[in-house]
Amino acid sequence: MKKILLIGCGHMGEALLKSWINTKKYSFTIVDPYKFKTLKKKYKNSKIKTIKSILLLDKFEEFNFIILATKPKDLNNALVELSNIKINSNTSLVSVIAGKKINNYKNKLKNIKNFFRVMPNMPAAIGQSMNCIVFNKTSSISKRKEVIKLFSYSGKSIFLKNENQIDMATAISGSGPGFVFNLIDAMEQGAIKLGFEKQIAKTLVYETFKGSINLLIHNNIRAKNLVKTVATKGGTTEAGLKIMKKSRVHKIFADLINEAYKKAKDQGQ
Ligand SMILES: NC(=O)c1ccc[n+]([C@@H]2O[C@H](COP(=O)([O-])OP(=O)(O)OC[C@H]3O[C@@H](n4cnc5c(N)ncnc54)[C@H](OP(=O)(O)O)[C@@H]3O)[C@@H](O)[C@H]2O)c1
Repeated sequence: MKKILLIGCGHMGEALLKSWINTKKYSFTIVDPYKFKTLKKKYKNSKIKTIKSILLLDKFEEFNFIILATKPKDLNNALVELSNIKINSNTSLVSVIAGKKINNYKNKLKNIKNFFRVMPNMPAAIGQSMNCIVFNKTSSISKRKEVIKLFSYSGKSIFLKNENQIDMATAISGSGPGFVFNLIDAMEQGAIKLGFEKQIAKTLVYETFKGSINLLIHNNIRAKNLVKTVATKGGTTEAGLKIMKKSRVHKIFADLINEAYKKAKDQGQ
């Protein structure tokens, strides 16, 4: 059984944990300053040890993976603490932290040579994450395979060329669920305003999003082209789409994606 040290078990860390826990292929040591107690209760039947600080780790305990999932601002502390324990050179260090470059880790954890940056997203909790992965050049083929396997339980993975592309992906798939949830909420609010009960509004909107994405995947066609097929000339969809065009929805999305990308870059400083 491979051993995972998960540092930071907030929203993202726990989503990943959920995707890995039922595989029964990994055992976990989780470090989280406050949530360690609740996590222990929540996952009491699983192979999980929870502690509140990296400093409480056994100095000589070896891990196959160290997953870093703190907020960017907490990373430095975590790295200082980590440098106090003896890390086997065979360990794979995987950071899911936005913005922070592999060089940050390399400089502080000199013994490690297998570094990975992964940008997952929240649907990891149900095994439907979009994982974007970058390998460090010094990582071995066998360690790359182990990381690919690990993240295959969380969802779909694609491999990006460089860390700048990870920052770009952070703005699309990493932050994307937030944008999508907001769109869904806007459409639900619109339905409620028309007079639908909350439950009916929810069903109509969820099924519309689900069916639309499935149709795109099924037809392997770009969304832009399907817009034309659903908007009958002079019809209701066209009337709504005119408002979208007037409100410059494409421009709004270009701007918000750019802002998220800039933030990912800033967090790396
Ligand atoms: N949320 C997402 O959708 C998403 C998607 C992709 C990537 N990410 C990345 O994932 C990382 C975590 O995001 P999140 O949303 O999960 O944040 P979060 O909910 O705040 O989780 C971070 C956890 O790390 C803990 N922590 C802080 N310092 C620590 C230390 N020294 N050792 C161990 N644990 C420590 C925090 O505890 P306290 O709260 O008590 O400080 C918190 O429980 C971020 O870097 C983000 O860029 C997030």
